[in-house]
Amino acid sequence: MKREQLYSGKAKTIYATDNPDTFISEFRNSLTAFNGEKKAEMEGKGYYNAQISKKIFEMLEASGIKTHFISMLSDIDMLVKKVEIIKIEVIVRNIAAGSITKRYPMKEGTIFEPPVLVFDFKSDEYGDPMLNDDIAVALGVATREELATLRKLALSINELLVPYLDEKGILLPDFKLEFGRREGEIILADEISCDTCRFWDKKTGQSMDKDVFRFDKGDISKAYEDVARRIVPEIFE
Ligand code: TMP
Ligand code: ASP
Repeated sequence: MKREQLYSGKAKTIYATDNPDTFISEFRNSLTAFNGEKKAEMEGKGYYNAQISKKIFEMLEASGIKTHFISMLSDIDMLVKKVEIIKIEVIVRNIAAGSITKRYPMKEGTIFEPPVLVFDFKSDEYGDPMLNDDIAVALGVATREELATLRKLALSINELLVPYLDEKGILLPDFKLEFGRREGEIILADEISCDTCRFWDKKTGQSMDKDVFRFDKGDISKAYEDVARRIVPEIFE
């Protein structure tokens, strides 16, 4: 049962439960971009993202990746294991898109082989600046050993996600992960959804993710629904 609200981020709200070892993560309909500068509400967004995340967490767990996911308590409420979130956004890039094409001379669509891994400092106040290992350690956000673990886990997750999505006609140019500490281990937390990944239709190359909202590329509702239809077809039966 939902107890007091512990934290409200831009897209999800975290609640305490009767069990001190679990939280409820509620997926809301609010959409933001550019560190909250652009805002909107989208009917059904919380639902699609929650269901997509659930399905991907289950797939990863079945492949041996530990996640915070326990179960769904409603369409949008995910029961999760309590973790201490590591303040690093771990971004894996397979194809150049988004900020990397603006900051560096890298053309959109360039394939990264091997994938490029980026650590950003998770801080709205500082605008999520990129980290290197020395800065992360000096800031105290993670140890060198933890950074190596994050890298290894993120690349393993990428290796599972790319073929899983490819089978559904979706390319994965890049995505963002967050991890948490729990009982001396690092496990996957947060969400994996249309808000936190770039998904491109394999045939047309069209965006099917938050870029549709960020850059006014079309019907955001249709894009999220299309991804949900491919990843969680059972919710449409
Ligand atoms: P970027 O190209 O804007 O740096 O985004 C890289 C990936 O990270 C992309 O898949 C979207 C995701 N992302 C988030 O999940 N949260 C964020 O705040 C940002 C900026 C990007
Ligand atoms: N999540 C960030 C924001 O809300 C940035 C983004 O996803 O573009 O503003």
